[in-house]
Parts: sequence; structure tokens; C-alpha cells
Amino acid sequence: PRVVVLFGGRSSEHAISCVTAAGVLAAIDRDAYDVVPVGITPTGRWVLVADDPDALRLRGQQLPEVPAGGPEVALAQEAGSGALLVLADPAHPAAGRVDVVLPLLHGPFGEDGTLQGLLELSDTRYVGSGVLASAVSMDKQAMKVLLAGAGLAVGPWTSFSARRWALDEAGCRAAVEALGYPVFVKPARAGSSIGISKVPGPDALAAAVAEAAAHDPKIVVEALVTGREVECGVLDDPDTGLRASVPGEIELLGGHDFYDFEAKYLDEGSVRLSCPADLPEAVSDAVRATAVAVFEAMGAETLARVDLFVDVERFRATEGAEGIVVNEINTMPGFTPFSMYPRMWAATGVDYPDLVDRLLRTALG
Ligand code: DAL
Ligand code: MG
Repeated sequence: PRVVVLFGGRSSEHAISCVTAAGVLAAIDRDAYDVVPVGITPTGRWVLVADDPDALRLRGQQLPEVPAGGPEVALAQEAGSGALLVLADPAHPAAGRVDVVLPLLHGPFGEDGTLQGLLELSDTRYVGSGVLASAVSMDKQAMKVLLAGAGLAVGPWTSFSARRWALDEAGCRAAVEALGYPVFVKPARAGSSIGISKVPGPDALAAAVAEAAAHDPKIVVEALVTGREVECGVLDDPDTGLRASVPGEIELLGGHDFYDFEAKYLDEGSVRLSCPADLPEAVSDAVRATAVAVFEAMGAETLARVDLFVDVERFRATEGAEGIVVNEINTMPGFTPFSMYPRMWAATGVDYPDLVDRLLRTALG
């Protein structure tokens, strides 16, 4: 089958998407798949990109970007038989049928349902969640409403628009005050901790709101939740059906106030990713069950990573009734070979190339 590996994009997670694509291009089974790498530039142009994983990797502090020089491509619908890749030169070898798109995009205009809508309209098969699950999972306010509505534990939070803050700062401050400092101030729709501040007290709130509002006019403020940072992979493929991976844990080793962008990608040695997480079996089982419940509550498809806070003492003291709080779901989690999602699956018995193959076979149905 012919696979378009689509990456980059207009969001602030452009570079992370490139790193993810480098991992996938290096691992995809070339005997089974005919691969066409297509990059979306930061300004939104779709271009053909050289099939060279090395050019897309992170080099120290240097963030990769989609090279804009390649020929422009577009997806077009072929009546009755799916999508075509169209180039100005119709004889170009990349032109023609598309069997499946692997949208390795993080953040708005990629992971948020907009691209998924384009792929639906053009009758293109694609990997991952559909329009609604992608959109709701991208928006931390909508996500929390849906999770709480499904009876899942989320931490205390509030949300307001930049307009509401301007009109009624005192009212917004009162809602934040009720959460108790410190709080995390976040753009509703972003990822990789971009635009997020940990705010120790009221004096720093206005700057944090302005920073979040630079990324999204909708702002979410979360209370600090006590507990260990645990993540869990969910995969639904034809071989084994819907299931959760062994959980992994993120431990900050110092130098960062929280698991921010630098700690995630640039400051090697500032975090330890432990996989499997060292949790009592009953807690691990409950985390896995919660991850699957979150996946189903959101209507997610094929893959997602669910991020949670786990307080083992509280879990014990309440006989499992409390102690697991859902932070969020990511429908296209970071997917480099060193990212938590693939590592959790490797620890569960599905290695990286096998994982890529399962995603593609699921979409090809
Ligand atoms: N948004 C980043 C890529 C993640 O969730 O891993
Ligand atoms: Mg996220």
C-alpha cells in the first residue's frame, strides 16, 4: 500500500512532529509500504519532502523544520475510489493514488480534527481518531467537561476567555483563588507544554494569562494535583483489540519546575522516564482500566496516550476509590522511538516497527 507520512504543520509543535516523522520514516517496513513523505510548512503549505529521517532529527538544541523547497502537493478526491496526491507535474512519481495517510501532527491544524475533516471529505483513509474525538481531546476545557460527564476523576479547574479576563479580571481571579495556588495556566488548545506557566501566587497570574492567551483565546487554569505523573498507552488494533500498555512514569530530576518543553525535548538528563512504572499491581491495573475508559469516553480511535496523576497512598486508603486523577488524553502522542508512547508499547511486547505496522493495518482495514 501507498502511505503518505504527513508531518510538520502550523502548530507550535511543528518541530516535535518532524522528530516523530524521522522515527517513523526510519522504522516503517519498506517491503510492505510505498512511503511518500509530505511536510506541512509552518505557514501551511504542503510540500514533498526527501525521504531522509536524518534531516528531521533533533540536533542538540536545534529544532528541525519541514524544508520548504520541495514541490507543492495537494490531496484531491477521486470519485468513488478515494484520494489522489496531486502535483503541478502530473508525471511526478509521487503523484497518484493514496491508500492511507499517517497524520503525525501534534497540536492545532493536525491533531484537532481539522485535518481529519479534510481527510474525511476527500475519502482518504487515515490513522487515528476522527473529527470529534480529535477536536475534544485537543481542547482541555471541552475534554474535562466530557471526562467529568463520563464519571472520570479530573482535578479542580476553571476556564475563561481572554475577553472575559479583560472584562472581569476580578471575577476570573476569584475563580482561580478558589483553586488555591500554585496553579497551572494553560492555553486550552496546545501541546508539549507550550504556553503553560506554573503560577505560585496572584502576582504572577496576569503574565501567565497573557502568555497562554498568545496561543489560544481560551484559557484553562488547573489546581496542582498531588501524585506521581503516570502515562498509559492505549491501542486498538485488529490483532489484539482495545487494550492498555503497561504504565510509564515521568520523574523530574531537577532544574525544572514542571515537565515543560525544555525538560521534554531539550534538557537531556532532567527527566527520567521509567517504563514500566514501579507501581503496585492493583494500582497499575486501575491505571490501565482508567486509560481505556478515557479512550472510550472520548470516542478515540486506534491510538492515544492518557496522562494521569497517581497517589498510591490515597488509592490504598480509599480501597481504590480515589487516587487516580486524569490529566489529559493525546490522540497523536509524541512518537519518536524515545517517546513514552512507543516505549510503553515496547515494554508491553509491541516494538516500534510493529506498532507503526499495526497503526497502518488498522487504518487500511
Ligand atoms: N503533544 C505531545 C507531542 C505529546 O503529547 O506527546
Ligand atoms: Mg499534551
